[in-house]
Amino acid sequence: MSTATASETASPDLPFYKPQGDEIALFEHAYKHQLPMLIKGPTGCGKTRFINYMAARLNRPVYTVSCHDDLTAADLVGRHLIREEGTFWSDGPLTRAVREGAICYLDEVVEARKDTTVVLHPLTDDRRILPLERTGEILHASPEFMLVVSYNPGYQNLLKGMKPSTRQRFVAARFDFPSSELEQEIVIGETGVDATLARRLVNLANALRSLKDHDLEEAASTRLLVYTAMLIKGGYDPLKACRAALVEPLTDDEETTNALMEVVDVTFGI
Ligand SMILES: Nc1ncnc2c1ncn2[C@@H]1O[C@H](COP(=O)(O)OP(=O)(O)OP(=O)(O)O)[C@@H](O)[C@H]1O
Ligand SMILES: [Mg+2]
Repeated sequence: MSTATASETASPDLPFYKPQGDEIALFEHAYKHQLPMLIKGPTGCGKTRFINYMAARLNRPVYTVSCHDDLTAADLVGRHLIREEGTFWSDGPLTRAVREGAICYLDEVVEARKDTTVVLHPLTDDRRILPLERTGEILHASPEFMLVVSYNPGYQNLLKGMKPSTRQRFVAARFDFPSSELEQEIVIGETGVDATLARRLVNLANALRSLKDHDLEEAASTRLLVYTAMLIKGGYDPLKACRAALVEPLTDDEETTNALMEVVDVTFGI
């Protein structure tokens, strides 16, 4: 049974999104030329938000699949289901997107089982076809169909990697932590905190990110900064908010936690 989480977003209102560079133009060009797109970047830096924003901007539905190591080609393409009335075919999220001209977004694509490349390859070169082995159909992707994949190059499991023959089927964009000014605008836009607090939080995040001595798997994300700002805006104690939303999620190591809290005290303490 599929454990893929598929969701559809088709809001007429654009989600709040602040561009990091010219990714909006790149995405629009890729879409226009029917090219698939790969987005790489650390956790919480805006990849998913960007795709939902672009989908709304281009007025396309988006089917999001969170990939995991049990995710198979059938989870993407579909399978026969057995019911009392008999057996019938049920499209998976990729097949639905191909038929409807939607955006199919495969999040953390490197996690998926290798058999998924068999279905992704003919869809991501100039053939743009999806053969449904089980039903004998060969679907030609609708012109509005777009495949977008993302992954975090920082994760260890990248050793599993993506084959060059897969990577080289995509136009690729690299995301990173936003610049200080941009991150302040994001924090303000997401939470409504004032500019002074946003600036202090971004300074704190940058101070935490520049700590080199500690073995953190990944630095504090914009997502965590937004969480922290939300807690403080809601009246929660600022130092406790920093601990709960900016420090504890980064590490389980007590010594590292204490070192990070020292930075919080220095940068943020009253
Ligand atoms: N450029 C941006 N514009 C608006 N909000 C942003 C931006 N970047 C980050 N955010 C904020 O950070 C949060 C996390 O972003 P998002 O969920 O898109 O991260 P992600 O890159 O998909 O992370 P993951 O790899 O963990 O899935 C968003 O919910 C939003 O609050
Ligand atoms: Mg995401």
